[in-house]
Amino acid sequence: MMRQYSLVTAEGERNSYVVGIKKDRASRGGSKYIHEHLHVGEVLKIGGPRNNFPLDEAAAHSVLIAGGIGITPIWCMAQRLIAKGAPWTMYYSCRERSEAAFLGDLQGRPEAHLHFDAESGGKFLDLKEIVAKASEGSHFYCCGPTPMLKAYEEATANVPESHMHVEYFTAAEEAATEGGYSVVLQRSGKEFAIPAGKTILQVLREAGMDVTYSCEEGVCGACETAVISGTPDHRDNILTDREREESKTMMICCSGSKSAKLVLDM
Ligand code: FES
Repeated sequence: MMRQYSLVTAEGERNSYVVGIKKDRASRGGSKYIHEHLHVGEVLKIGGPRNNFPLDEAAAHSVLIAGGIGITPIWCMAQRLIAKGAPWTMYYSCRERSEAAFLGDLQGRPEAHLHFDAESGGKFLDLKEIVAKASEGSHFYCCGPTPMLKAYEEATANVPESHMHVEYFTAAEEAATEGGYSVVLQRSGKEFAIPAGKTILQVLREAGMDVTYSCEEGVCGACETAVISGTPDHRDNILTDREREESKTMMICCSGSKSAKLVLDM
């Protein structure tokens, strides 16, 4: 079982990593295991941090939007902005107050606006209004459940791509498993037929290739691979629209091919 969790602290803690993990009602096993079975003293194998959701520290103003446990990277960003003395505003939404994390840190901060659906008659955060009233040149960041991220993407449709940042923690699209194309690994010269029902990553792993991967959902970036030729069918949540168009790289855990052959730098 391999999982990724956001770091809570941006700096200061040089001998530990602090992560925020919600016990997910629909857990695929990771958060349930951590909450119910992981003990002090147990040893886990970990990889170093990877940042697919970087903060633009030069922004004139940062608008941070979080839903549920999506607060973890958002609070990390806020701490960094506080340390730098940079201006920020946060909107943090949860179903209920009892589900909110870091309340002790956030309550009383004028920059942090808390929203609990249960205390607002079931009304969700109005993301369009938040975006509309933000100052010119603001950068927007959002992490939360998929419906919130979709609403955020709609609300920021007219925001320049460079100012709009989003982090998905579960796949927003189905992996490409239509198959019917081949993948050539440029460095070894090996060629693999990708059949229907399989991803490129699955085929390469089954063939015993040494491939780096982690989430297998297109959200972590571990399997990002340079594309030499061919047209990828991107299904990840990491590449921007421009990066998808350029197709210099692709996530082989979930993306497929629109061309009959893909040549990868492997
Ligand atoms: S393994 Fe995480 S994006 Fe592919």
